[in-house]
Amino acid sequence: MRKINPEDFPTICSFDLGGNEIYAGSSRMSVLVLNPGDASSKITCDFQVHLVVLEGKISLVSDDRSIDLKQGCLASMLPGKDYRIRNEHPEKSRVLLIQDDPLWVLRKRRSVRKYSKLSVPKSLVEKILNLSRLAPSAGNIQPWRIFAVSDQSLKDALAESAYGQSFLRDAPWVIVVCAVPRESEREYGSRGRDLYSIQDTSALTTYIMLIAKAYGLDTCWVGAFNDEKVSRVLNLPNDVKPVSMIPMGYGEKEPDTPPRKPLDSILKFL
Ligand SMILES: Cc1cc2nc3c(=O)[nH]c(=O)nc-3n(C[C@H](O)[C@H](O)[C@H](O)COP(=O)(O)O)c2cc1C
Repeated sequence: MRKINPEDFPTICSFDLGGNEIYAGSSRMSVLVLNPGDASSKITCDFQVHLVVLEGKISLVSDDRSIDLKQGCLASMLPGKDYRIRNEHPEKSRVLLIQDDPLWVLRKRRSVRKYSKLSVPKSLVEKILNLSRLAPSAGNIQPWRIFAVSDQSLKDALAESAYGQSFLRDAPWVIVVCAVPRESEREYGSRGRDLYSIQDTSALTTYIMLIAKAYGLDTCWVGAFNDEKVSRVLNLPNDVKPVSMIPMGYGEKEPDTPPRKPLDSILKFL
């Protein structure tokens, strides 16, 4: 039985799980990646974890059931039970084991600027963007439009519009979040047009990034771009304003956490 030490998990790691039992003995363990090539792995959990299939097709087998999981699927594994992961395509399968900690996506999300060549299915992107509609907006006006771009020539042009930030080119998807200020203006005048529509689309951007992370995908908020060029590339109507671009894919490696200001320098209890 292999014991997982939380200190071994500063980053997303690959493990050779072939034939081993995994003992997830820490309440802080958050992510495991199943290597391509492992045909079968046995896992025992002492707390609930979720398993996300990144690539390939696997079966999750326990005493009382067997579930077939395809790309983008999420399955819950209960504590104290043994599970066997049967890998249908050992040469190309990757899964994440995610601890049932609702805050892990906040801790693990980083701005990633290097993406692997692994493809991301359109159905998974659609799932993420569908959920992101739950983001709050002033008066629930939802003054936004979303463009999900996978076409290589469009991604090249978006990277060019963003002063050559080349990771926009390399990511399998670039999500462009746009505001429709006139929809907010109708209800809230200039405050809606100039402030709420931007705040709403910023909230939507954050939702997209965090939901993507929950499905094992990395992102980066890109705000440095030429509005007119992006509008031209996407053929946007005059009243649709690009607010953020979000490259989305599987990161090559997890960057260090950039330092944050000390709490007492930004917070005052009154
Ligand atoms: C409004 C906004 C605009 C940003 N624009 C860019 C950008 O154009 N290019 C980039 O590489 N990162 C951009 N970032 C990402 C920040 O650099 C990053 O969030 C920050 O350094 C903290 O790192 P972290 O996201 O890994 O915590 C932007 C972030 C925000 C919120």
